[in-house]
Amino acid sequence: MLTLFSPAKLNLFLRVLRRREDGFHELASLFQAISLGDMLSFSLAAHDQLTAEGLSVPLDGSNLIAKAVDLFRKNTAIDASFTIHLNKRIPLEAGLGGGSSNAATTLWALNELTGRPATLEQLVAWGGTLGSDVAFFLSSGTAYCTGRGEILKSLEPLPETPSITLVKPPYGSSTPQVYRALNCLTLPHRDPIQYLDRFYENDIEYFNDLETAAFAAIPDLAQLKEELLFAGFEHAVLAGSGSTFFCIGEAKLSLDPTYLIKKVRYLNRPLNSWYSLESAWKLGIT
Ligand code: C5P
Repeated sequence: MLTLFSPAKLNLFLRVLRRREDGFHELASLFQAISLGDMLSFSLAAHDQLTAEGLSVPLDGSNLIAKAVDLFRKNTAIDASFTIHLNKRIPLEAGLGGGSSNAATTLWALNELTGRPATLEQLVAWGGTLGSDVAFFLSSGTAYCTGRGEILKSLEPLPETPSITLVKPPYGSSTPQVYRALNCLTLPHRDPIQYLDRFYENDIEYFNDLETAAFAAIPDLAQLKEELLFAGFEHAVLAGSGSTFFCIGEAKLSLDPTYLIKKVRYLNRPLNSWYSLESAWKLGIT
């Protein structure tokens, strides 16, 4: 049995450049894996079985794990079946990439269990067809992603992890709905490469071009951001299309217990192995 950690991600900055003819949006974003994650166990078996515990998640063909299994079998022509168990901790509709991470972890695991028929580059290309964020999780944990988000350039780990607190309200956010509310013409013309360089020079500016659209779609999110800043955080930035905020600094929070509040750290993986639970534990996963 192979048991792997499946981390969540943050977009430390997310620039939306334009709407494309295929309806997707051209992005330029600095992605970072974090110490919050799911656990996934994989075994070769006589027939496929997907089970789960933890947060509730659909386990039918719509689950990205099931889609990754089908895609792996189709692309490698390997006639194998798998028992997969998911311990779900990353909230859904949160902007943390949980489903995409599970898909990438599944591609990696199946490749290991079947004697590595595919190269990492192939897994990255296959991941990109499953969802815009899947390819990122096959990077080393820090990557500059362009295109729909699926074209990735792995980067050196960032010089420093700040103190990050995730705050997720009890309601979720729908990614297609947020993109539909987005007007690219009103976005500030920030040069993403300049912002990327600044992260490595410790002159950091977090931003997310999806925030205004998410606030239009879910006005409560705009109010939550104000509350987080008022409570003392230096920055409170929407994670992906929301509904989680990642907050930098310290604050005295008095939120309803239905809000998830969690301290996390950046997480990177060594070149030839997967993200490890042990390193996430050391970084403070609870
Ligand atoms: O690729 P993924 O399944 O994550 O995309 C979910 C939805 O988010 C898409 O159907 C699309 O509406 C929107 N999206 C987009 N541009 C991107 C990524 C996602 O418009 N670069």
